[in-house]
Amino acid sequence: MKAFIAGLPKAELHVHIEGTFEPELMFDLAGRNGIALPYESIGALKAAYDFSNLEDFLALYYQGMKVLLHEQDFHDLTWAYLERARTDNVRHAEIFFDPQGHTRRGVAFETVLNGIWRALERGRRELGLTTKLILCFLRDLPEEDAERCLDMALAHKARIAGIGLDSTEVGNPPAKFEGVFARARHEGFPCVAHAGEEGPAAYVREALDLLKVARIDHGNRALDDTDLVARLVREGVPLTVCPLSNLRLRVVAEAKDHPLKAMLGKGLAVTVNSDDPAYFGGYINDNYEVMQEALDLSREEIVTLARNSFEASFLSRAKKDAHLARLNDYALAAKSSNRSTAARS
Ligand code: ADE
Ligand code: ZN
Repeated sequence: MKAFIAGLPKAELHVHIEGTFEPELMFDLAGRNGIALPYESIGALKAAYDFSNLEDFLALYYQGMKVLLHEQDFHDLTWAYLERARTDNVRHAEIFFDPQGHTRRGVAFETVLNGIWRALERGRRELGLTTKLILCFLRDLPEEDAERCLDMALAHKARIAGIGLDSTEVGNPPAKFEGVFARARHEGFPCVAHAGEEGPAAYVREALDLLKVARIDHGNRALDDTDLVARLVREGVPLTVCPLSNLRLRVVAEAKDHPLKAMLGKGLAVTVNSDDPAYFGGYINDNYEVMQEALDLSREEIVTLARNSFEASFLSRAKKDAHLARLNDYALAAKSSNRSTAARS
């Protein structure tokens, strides 16, 4: 099953580029930029990755970002993720970035965007990996900050495929950003939002009703509300679920308690993603594997998750169909090689 997951063509729809910042690269860039990290070694930094909740994690996530100063830093960060994703047979990635986490430190929006973009172009050329960039507003900042961030984004519309919402959820409901999301949609951006990670099912409803999002990032807490689940199924709203993140941030106590299989069973359009893989102990295939083992997912369920990942993407219908055809071929080839192995034994 591990080999089956490894070779499975898949899309990743929920990964924060700043959350792919591996400690080794962080120390390299800190050295290059003459910035002292408050840890004496890579080991000491890794030892700090023991989180009780989202807030705990975000403190380290924002601290880590501080060593990213120059365009080349953003390029190197993004390139490292793309190379890693390609080894997991990710064929398409929709990547979040948090410009406000950088502009508030005095790094220009263009420095961030140009560095990331250069790596994405290189990824298309050298790895055959297609990508889209989703700009996330930090929900713990005022809506006016998000408005200013959107103004900056409008000067680079061709490179930004969508708008999202992340950072501290509880106390920062989607309603706080109704105005800026309306303007983003008016400008033609498809929207997504983190909702129901730590916040209540009501935040998932607000994200749908007020922000009019096309996908919900996480969405675990939607399961507390049966009417909401029925609506998500009826409307085919995808959920970008992140199992290792849920475990490391204690949204779910143990892998065997994860609701992924139950979500599939209810007919929700769930996908599997890595969120902040450098902090949560694994990339996308590790997320598939931990769920397959703990929940005894079948090959058909694994293929459904990968199929959902392409369907839920912002790719054109034609591009989705091309990915889905390759996925079907892969699943069929695995089935027939399984059958011939069974026949021989
Ligand atoms: N920013 C980076 N990772 C996040 C997560 N899992 N939830 C909210 N904001 C985030
Ligand atoms: Zn996230």
